[in-house]
Amino acid sequence: MQILTSPQELAALCRQWRTDGESIALVPTMGYYHAGHESLMARGRECGSKLVVSLFVNPTQFGPNEDLAAYPRDHERDAAIARKQGADVLFIPEDGAMYAPDHATWVEVPDMARGLCGASRPIHFRGVCTVVMKLFWLVQPAVAVFGQKDWQQQAIIRRMVRDMNIPVRIETQPTMREADGLAMSSRNVYMTEAERAQAPQMRQGLELARRLAQAGETSAARLRDAVLRYWAEQLPLGRLDYLSVVDADTLEPLDSLNGRGLMACAVHMGKSRIIDNILLQD
Ligand code: PAF
Repeated sequence: MQILTSPQELAALCRQWRTDGESIALVPTMGYYHAGHESLMARGRECGSKLVVSLFVNPTQFGPNEDLAAYPRDHERDAAIARKQGADVLFIPEDGAMYAPDHATWVEVPDMARGLCGASRPIHFRGVCTVVMKLFWLVQPAVAVFGQKDWQQQAIIRRMVRDMNIPVRIETQPTMREADGLAMSSRNVYMTEAERAQAPQMRQGLELARRLAQAGETSAARLRDAVLRYWAEQLPLGRLDYLSVVDADTLEPLDSLNGRGLMACAVHMGKSRIIDNILLQD
């Protein structure tokens, strides 16, 4: 595995690979790998003859009061994991390589970025789309792999790809979970022991909504109320950011389920903001 830090070198190598008839899979990441990242890389390995993993804590997707400085980092361990997963290149851009000091060009899908996580993180998806577009230009992958835990992110990237006619296939991988159901996240390390012990109740609440939907409940308001009641009892350390029922593709809020209903949430547990989602119908 090569570790590249220069965008120009990455672009030149990928250009050569494409000329040689290779098909490239890209897995964009911010590092501090857990089994969820490994499953994205494993899928990337299956989808392309060459695998590029990028590792970049993208500053433009963090708001002014968010955890950019504290975001956990361990490049040495990450490199060992990417190597184990069969990456051909780990791209860790050198400081200043991705954004010029007077960077002024942004990629946005505003309608899909306003709700859910976008409501409390107004610049987040603009930063995500911009950095992902840059990576798409540098690598020009045939396939790019994202995780289902960040449902809104993958839905927005799919729309960006469609709207901009980018010749890349987006693969979405199922969320990897701890044994107790908590979605794996690099940010789980911020939780105290007590918060971590309660955190799986988030998933239990979403699963309750899915059971109710499968038993015939179609009202988004009633499903939401049932989860909030459950959390009030079982998740007292949690502070709700949002709990919404939306169309899984368009992310438009739903009053009643339409066959593609997704319940998505974010809950603050101390210093951690935990997100998760569930498809309410098969
Ligand atoms: O999901 C992430 O880790 C990031 O949002 C991404 C896609 C790597 C862009 O910085």
